[in-house]
Amino acid sequence: MPLRFTTAGESHGPALVSILEGVPAGLTLLAAHVNADLARRQQGYGRGRRMQIERDEVEFLSGVRAGETLGSPVAMLIRNRDWKNWQEIMDPAPRDEDAAGERKRAVHRPRPGHADLSGLLKYDRDDARDILERASARETTARVAAGAIARRLLSECGVTVASHLVHLGGIDAQRPADMPADINAAADASPLRTLDAEAEQRMIALIDVAKREGNTLGGVCEVVVDGLPVGLGSHVSWDRRLDGRLGQAMLSIPAVKGVEIGIGFEAARRTGAEVHDEITMAPGQTRSGNVRRKTNRAGGLEGGMTSGEPLIVRVAMKPISTLMRPLGTIDTKTGVAAEAVAERSDVTAVPAMGVIAEAMAALVMADAMIEKFGGDSMNELRRNLDAYLTHIASRLG
Ligand SMILES: Cc1cc2nc3c(=O)[nH]c(=O)nc-3n(C[C@H](O)[C@H](O)[C@H](O)COP(=O)(O)O)c2cc1C
Repeated sequence: MPLRFTTAGESHGPALVSILEGVPAGLTLLAAHVNADLARRQQGYGRGRRMQIERDEVEFLSGVRAGETLGSPVAMLIRNRDWKNWQEIMDPAPRDEDAAGERKRAVHRPRPGHADLSGLLKYDRDDARDILERASARETTARVAAGAIARRLLSECGVTVASHLVHLGGIDAQRPADMPADINAAADASPLRTLDAEAEQRMIALIDVAKREGNTLGGVCEVVVDGLPVGLGSHVSWDRRLDGRLGQAMLSIPAVKGVEIGIGFEAARRTGAEVHDEITMAPGQTRSGNVRRKTNRAGGLEGGMTSGEPLIVRVAMKPISTLMRPLGTIDTKTGVAAEAVAERSDVTAVPAMGVIAEAMAALVMADAMIEKFGGDSMNELRRNLDAYLTHIASRLG
């Protein structure tokens, strides 16, 4: 894996850290590129108060000079504005339990559907805050920062990454017959990031009801990656297949419980003739070797490799686990039945999940791009990509 990233940071700690290693030198990169995606992740009807407090902005600590990457690890810092309200609670300094008494905001009524209880037992902690601060999806801010750099790299190679919401809490959004040329521009203009304005009104009404009832909602987003050349990834080994790599990346997003590539589960219900995409000549379609598929039910992947058709991945998120009308749990100090703690929370975060899924897709596809075309600099990578495109275009058509 030439492109590697890691994140650090607790939800109410001083900051989040993101380190991305393997970016070639000479990629134009400004804080504004990263900040634009961080802002997109904070949007969405149904978010809680936390997103009003935070105004996420990146500080580059390394790997970027004069607006260009250096080829060295890119380290990024994103400060938590809310930290000032949590300093005492999250203070790393040792504390005198006898003098200070019980810690403020200690959690011993673990929330069903969260890491709270399993983490508390596994890591042998008394306060589930030691677990939930890291399990919180606030961590995905750092992923979106890394993903924004991957998006920049892909865009220099003619590849775009976008998403839109296709389902929320039982309501389907219709995919427009003609997809907009700039999917993200259209989706970002909508409070739920959906392309179906009529369904959106019903979804908003449903979120309002869920909020009044102290309940939460899940949904599905579709990620579309366009402009990929044929032949990224590989069929030769399980861990080089792109469908597997995308599945792992998407399922690592908190609350994501399902991933479909192309028509996904629907393919299992149809016959082969209704599923597989026929191949035809398409002179001028150089990225796919002058051929194309008449349909794209495979979602742009065959044999773990890109086909040159748009990559289509659908990502399903369960409803938010923290309910304002809490579910039953136990008190881990006494074992007595109790109501789960109601930590401040979103009613739904499916629109934000789509932006995070874009980031994960961008990281996987940028990794596959560097794997195939290599290069220590962007110039070298682009030269190798261009030579490959010229070669495959010369084979057919
Ligand atoms: C963008 C985003 C925002 C989230 N916001 C919340 C939230 O406000 N409250 C909550 O309980 N869970 C939230 N979650 C989900 C939890 O982080 C997740 O369910 C939990 O960590 C347990 O992981 P699991 O659902 O994958 O088992 C959010 C997830 C995402 C992707």
